[in-house]
Amino acid sequence: MRLDKLLAELTGMTRSQARDVIVKGIVCVNGEVKKVTAEQVKEEDVVLTLDGKELTFQRYVYYMLNKPAGTVSATQDKESKTVLSLLSAEDRKRRNLFPVGRLDKDTEGLLFLTDDGILSHKLISPKKHADKLYFAKLSREITKEDIAAFASGMKVDEELTAMPAVLRTLTEEEYAAFLPEGGAAAAVTLQEGKFHQVKRMFAATGNEVLYLKRMAMGGVVLDEALLPGEYRELTNEEVLVLQKSVAE
Ligand code: URA
Repeated sequence: MRLDKLLAELTGMTRSQARDVIVKGIVCVNGEVKKVTAEQVKEEDVVLTLDGKELTFQRYVYYMLNKPAGTVSATQDKESKTVLSLLSAEDRKRRNLFPVGRLDKDTEGLLFLTDDGILSHKLISPKKHADKLYFAKLSREITKEDIAAFASGMKVDEELTAMPAVLRTLTEEEYAAFLPEGGAAAAVTLQEGKFHQVKRMFAATGNEVLYLKRMAMGGVVLDEALLPGEYRELTNEEVLVLQKSVAE
């Protein structure tokens, strides 16, 4: 990769800012000052310093977004606001980011955005068994029969027989935070993500999802400090948790 491109990626500088600091002679590659902006460097093998400070290469970037209702899980859309439009211009420009799977337009909660296609693919593959936890506001309370139906891998409709899923009531604490206004609610953990799956599973038991929020995926929990529309980078520990959740 060109030195100016690598420096821009590592620091968030524009390419022209990166070129300026290289020409100034404050960028070292493996301890040697380099002033040629087009110098080819191997990003995995070099130690790069800027003004004496070591820069580390981040191969991929990972964000968690608290997706608000009304946004579509796509990189582009003619009619609606996309989840990518919620990122700052700088973060959007940084990489070719895309959402990891989809949430419905009216669904809120945890959505990862990344440029890591391999991890993304694994997280949405039902074969890899990454858990997705949803909290749902419902038209009626769940029953023991509903819990058994979810656990058994129910036939949802002509097109979908679901893999076994865990349905449960919310803890007191979860309920107070999720539904302070009151009403029926439940938590469901699935390992697949077919179109409208949670809504269709509840519909198959004669219930209706009135509001849906994803709370966790692959062992990483939505940061409750993030308001709808807000996002942050994953910590290194969270990336490791995600990777572990799909390693087999
Ligand atoms: N299941 C649904 O029905 N909708 C979502 O957005 C996610 C899972």
